[in-house]
Amino acid sequence: MDYLQIKGGAKLQGNVTISGSKNAALPIIAATLLSDKEATLTNLPNVVDIRTLLKLLKMLGGEVEHDNTVAKINNASINSTKAVYTIVSQMRASILVLGPLLARFGECEVSLPGGCAIGQRPIDLHLKALEAMGAHIEIKGGYVHAEAPDGLHGAKIIFDKVTVGGTENIVMAAALAKGVTTIINAAKEPEVVQLCEMIRDAGVEMEGVGTDTLIIHGTDRKPLKFKDTTVIPDRIEAGTYLCAAAITKSSITLDKVNAEHIRTSISKLESMGCSFDIKKDEITIYPTETIKPVSLITMEYPGFPTDMQAQFMAVAVIANGESLIEERLFENRFMHVSELNRLGADIWLKGNIAAVHPVQELYGADVMATDLRASSALVLAGLVANGTTNVHRIYHLDRGYDNLEGKLAQLGADIVRLKE
Ligand code: EPZ
Repeated sequence: MDYLQIKGGAKLQGNVTISGSKNAALPIIAATLLSDKEATLTNLPNVVDIRTLLKLLKMLGGEVEHDNTVAKINNASINSTKAVYTIVSQMRASILVLGPLLARFGECEVSLPGGCAIGQRPIDLHLKALEAMGAHIEIKGGYVHAEAPDGLHGAKIIFDKVTVGGTENIVMAAALAKGVTTIINAAKEPEVVQLCEMIRDAGVEMEGVGTDTLIIHGTDRKPLKFKDTTVIPDRIEAGTYLCAAAITKSSITLDKVNAEHIRTSISKLESMGCSFDIKKDEITIYPTETIKPVSLITMEYPGFPTDMQAQFMAVAVIANGESLIEERLFENRFMHVSELNRLGADIWLKGNIAAVHPVQELYGADVMATDLRASSALVLAGLVANGTTNVHRIYHLDRGYDNLEGKLAQLGADIVRLKE
């Protein structure tokens, strides 16, 4: 197993290129199941989760040519509609094949994803919506068995909670359903918007893209033909590098970024004292010597993203006053707290609120990554901790950050990947 060794204290400088968004690429890859023609995807991030989903498509009979950032996918020859446990247990986003497989083939079996390190993460809203569209669903032997032999039909879906994956699954299912599907309380994340645009560009009439009400006119099982799709920049990777600059009190420039998608992170960093020069697809951050405390609550887009909560907590650790961080989306997304405290942070948890008390210094230690974003928070803390920090179990990081240590090293960090 690999781990990252970081010697804290180095300043960062220079430019970093932001990769394509993992969370946009995953539903886009799943959506290719709605087509029986070749689809070309570019600007894919070079991360494990992307390779896992492409492997699943191959297991289903799809033809996949993948070379780092480009994939050509042809799902004309799908001969299985079963997403097996061995893949779904590696990556819960595999559940995104449920909607498109069911809509195109009238039946599928997808292993239940189960809980994960950040919370219970049920898929009840996905299943309820598919049932409203005419699916018959049974849970047997750890699998979701879904059937709609005559195809899915349009329906009015009202999501009790805003769900990114749920919205994506139902948009994909609705694209091939018969009639009109209306999704009320839809997610508005940029990744959802890109999926909708890709499906709309393939000829599916859709209204309300980017709003919380989506109206989708299905093709009644006529497969789609996708145009070439370039994945949007990863807003969470971009936010993570901004936090790396803030915590090390360095100025860096992010290339190939969409500033609009990270405006809440930018405005929080401004409130902490950082300043910015923002161009169309380039952002330069200027640090502050005295980081001010922050108060933040995670929310659905355009609110503050839960996927940036851990990284902001790492920056807040060295602020000059108490920060309050409330996690509203996931019930267990504070696993990084005890690891940050092992580095000398002073964070107290009460329910879903973390109080981050200021400390003078952090000290290097061995810490353990628990989930993707928690891991990046530990790397950020390691960049400023005195001495050496070893971040173990970095397979979490490899799932979602494209060459994190390479990009940080290029910016001047003292960070290397080693074998246990
Ligand atoms: C997506 O997960 C992202 N994953 C997550 O990114 C992100 O944290 C999350 O959205 C929130 O922004 C991908 O895009 C692949 P949800 P998703 O359905 O779709 C509850 C990362 O680090 N819920 O919007 O699984 C759920 O438990 C990851 O890159 C139900 O109750 O999230 C949660 O509390 C981690 N029933 C809330 O809704 C359901 O059927 C939001 O979850 C579905 C969700």
